[in-house]
Amino acid sequence: MTEHWTPASWRGKPAKHIPSDYPDMAELSRVETTLRKMPPLVFAGEARRLKSLLGDVAAGKAFLLQGGDCAESFKEFAADNIRDTFRLILQMAVVLTFAGGKPVVKVGRMAGQFGKPRSSPVEKIGDVELPSYRGDNINGMEFTPEARIPDPQRLMQAYGQSAATLNLLRAFAGGGYADLHNIHRWTLGFVADSPQGARYREVADKISETLQFMEAIGVTPESQPTLHQVEFFTSHEGLLLGYEEAMTRVDSTSGEWYDTSAHLLWIGERTRQLDGAHVEYFRGIRNPIGIKCGPTMEGDDVLRLIETLNPKDEAGRITLYGRFGYDKIADRLPGLLRATKASGRNVVWAIDPMHGNTLTAANGYKTRPFDRILSEVKTFIEVCKAEGVHPGGVHLEMTGQNVTECLGGARSVSEGDLADRYHTHCDPRLNGEQALELAFLVAEKLKDERVDLSQRVAAGI
Ligand code: PEP
Ligand code: CO
Repeated sequence: MTEHWTPASWRGKPAKHIPSDYPDMAELSRVETTLRKMPPLVFAGEARRLKSLLGDVAAGKAFLLQGGDCAESFKEFAADNIRDTFRLILQMAVVLTFAGGKPVVKVGRMAGQFGKPRSSPVEKIGDVELPSYRGDNINGMEFTPEARIPDPQRLMQAYGQSAATLNLLRAFAGGGYADLHNIHRWTLGFVADSPQGARYREVADKISETLQFMEAIGVTPESQPTLHQVEFFTSHEGLLLGYEEAMTRVDSTSGEWYDTSAHLLWIGERTRQLDGAHVEYFRGIRNPIGIKCGPTMEGDDVLRLIETLNPKDEAGRITLYGRFGYDKIADRLPGLLRATKASGRNVVWAIDPMHGNTLTAANGYKTRPFDRILSEVKTFIEVCKAEGVHPGGVHLEMTGQNVTECLGGARSVSEGDLADRYHTHCDPRLNGEQALELAFLVAEKLKDERVDLSQRVAAGI
C-alpha cells in the first residue's frame, strides 16, 4: 500500500542537497512559517492548463520550449534582464512555430530558479577551502567564510524576487508586449546585425505580411485576443523542499495539493532517488513535473519513477529531460525511449543539451561548446524519429544578455573571450544569438520531420 502523503512527509526520507547547516535551525522554521502565510505565486488552474498543454506535447501535437538562467541571482535582478529573456523566448517560439507548424508551449526557468545542487560541498581556491555556493536563496557567491553561511532570510528575498519577476512576466505576456504585431521589436540589439538577426527578420516579415492580410479580412487583436497575448509559464528545480512545502496549498476547486511556487517543478539528476525525499514530495503535488535523465538512468529506473509519480498515467504530468552529453546520447537514449514506449506510458520526451556538455576551459572558466550542444539536440531529434517517439521539446540555460559563457556560435566565442562578459551565477548560458541559432536548427529538423511524416502518410505507411 502507498504510504500516506503530506506536504511534510518528505522529511522522513533521505534528503540530498538540502542544507542542514543553518547556524540557527529555529530561524529557518520561523521563515518557513512566514512563507506559509504568503500569497501563492501561481494558481492551481494555471498549473492544470500547463499540464493539458503538455498533454498535447506528449501526443505529438505541440512542442515545449523551456529556458532561462541556470541560477537567478539577487545581483542580476533587473527588469531589463527579465524582459530580454522573455523576448528571446518569444522570438525562438516564433521561429519554431513557423517552421515546425505546431504550437509552442513557453515555459521560463524564471521566477524561482535559485537553489543549486553542487557536485562538491566545498570549493577550494589556492589553499583556502570554503563551503560551496548553493544559490542565492541559501548563501552568497562571494568567496568569503561569511557569505557562504546559509541564511534563512534569503528565502524571503527569493520569494519576493520571484513574485516581482512573475508580476512583470504576466504584464509582458498579457499587456500587449507579446502582441504578434510587435514581432520586429523583440529582436535584441546585439542580435539585430547578426546572421541570426537577418534570418529572424525574414520570418518576421512573412508573419507581418500575413497579419496585414488577416487584418484586411477583419481578424484583428480586438476580434482575436490570442494575437495580443501569449500564455507563459514558470518553472524551477524543486530542490529546497522546505520552501516548496511552505508554498504547497490545497486547491479549493479540486481539493488537491499544488505547489504554488511555480507552474512546473522538476526533479534534478542528483535528487531522483526512488526512496528519497524529493520523489516523496513530488508524488503528492498535482503540478506538471519534470525529471532529469542522465547517462546512468536505465529503462527500469525511469519506469519505476513514472509508476510512483504518475500512477494514474495522467497526460502532461511527466516530462523527461534527457541530459546525456553529445557523445553519450546515441548510446543512452534509445533504451529509455523503448522502455517508455513499450510501457505505453504518457510522457513528454525533451532534451536538456546543456548539463552533459559542461567542461572547464584551460583558463579555468566553466563553459560549454556550442557545437556539442547543437550536436546533442540533433541526435535527440534523429533518435526520437528512428524510435517513433515525438521529440517534444528543449530545456535550455540561456539569457537575453550578450554574455560570453558558451564557446562558439556564429560569432565564434573563444576561450579568450570568456572573460569578457561571463556573468552566470552557476552554469554557462547560451546568449541571445546562440539561442536563436539553436531555435533555427531545431526548426529545420522539425520541418524535416513534418516532410517525412507527410511523405509517409501519402505513401500509406
Ligand atoms: C540544472 O538544470 O541546473 C541542473 C542542475 O541540472 P541537472 O540536475 O540535470 O544536473
Ligand atoms: Co545548470
